[in-house]
Amino acid sequence: MHKVVSDFSKTVVVPDEGIRLPNEPEPKIREKYANELEKVLITKGCIKERVKALAGEIENAFRNAGEITCVVVLKGGMFFAADLIRALDEQSNLRTRIDFIKCSSYGAKSYSSGNVNIFQVDTIEGENMLLIEDIVDTGNTLKVLQQFLLDKSKNLKTCVLLDKGIAKGVSIDFVGFRIPRVFVGGYGLDYAGMYRGLPEIVVIKKELLK
Ligand code: PRP
Repeated sequence: MHKVVSDFSKTVVVPDEGIRLPNEPEPKIREKYANELEKVLITKGCIKERVKALAGEIENAFRNAGEITCVVVLKGGMFFAADLIRALDEQSNLRTRIDFIKCSSYGAKSYSSGNVNIFQVDTIEGENMLLIEDIVDTGNTLKVLQQFLLDKSKNLKTCVLLDKGIAKGVSIDFVGFRIPRVFVGGYGLDYAGMYRGLPEIVVIKKELLK
C-alpha cells in the first residue's frame, strides 16, 4: 500500500512502497509496461504538489532578483523543468529565461560511466541562474555542471527533483523528493530511452537492468 502524503512544504521522503495523495487511488503500472516496471513510486498528483511548493522556495531564495536564467539539463530534466518554470511564471514575480544544456553519462546502462559529457546547446549566461536537474545519483553530473556554470553567473542555485542521498560533496539548494536507492524512470527519466513520457515516477524491474 502506498503511503498517503499531504504535506509538500519541504523535501518529501519517499518510502520503498511509494507515495500518493489522499484523493488518489492506489496507483498501478500501466498494462503495456507490466513486464518491465515494478511499481509507481511517486504519483502524478504528488509531483504536481511538490513542484508548486518548490516554485515557492525558489521565489523566496531569488527574492528581488527580477530575472533568472533557468538552465535545463537534457534530456531527463525536460518535463520537470517545463512544469517548474511554468509554475514560477504563474506563481512568482520572477521573470524567467530558459537555456538548455545536454549531459550524458549513463548511455543505455543502469550505472554511471563516470565520464560526464557536456554538450552546450545554448550560450549560457545570466546574473541569477537556476540549474534544473531530474535526479542526483552518484552526483558526478551535478559536480561537472556546477563547475561548468560557476563563472557564467554571479548567483547559481541548483534544483533537483529526486535525490537518492548517495552523492557526497555536492551542494543542492532545492530537492523535491528523497527516494530509495532503486532505478527509477518516468517524468523525463529513462532506461535505455524508454519511460520518459510517463507522468509518474516508476521503479524499473531489477531483472531488466544491465
Ligand atoms: C541522468 C540524469 C542525471 C544523471 C544523474 O542522465 O538525467 O543527469 O544521470 O546521475 P549521477 O548523479 O550519477 O551523475 P543521463 O546520463 O542518463 O542522461 P539523460 O538525462 O539524457 O537521460
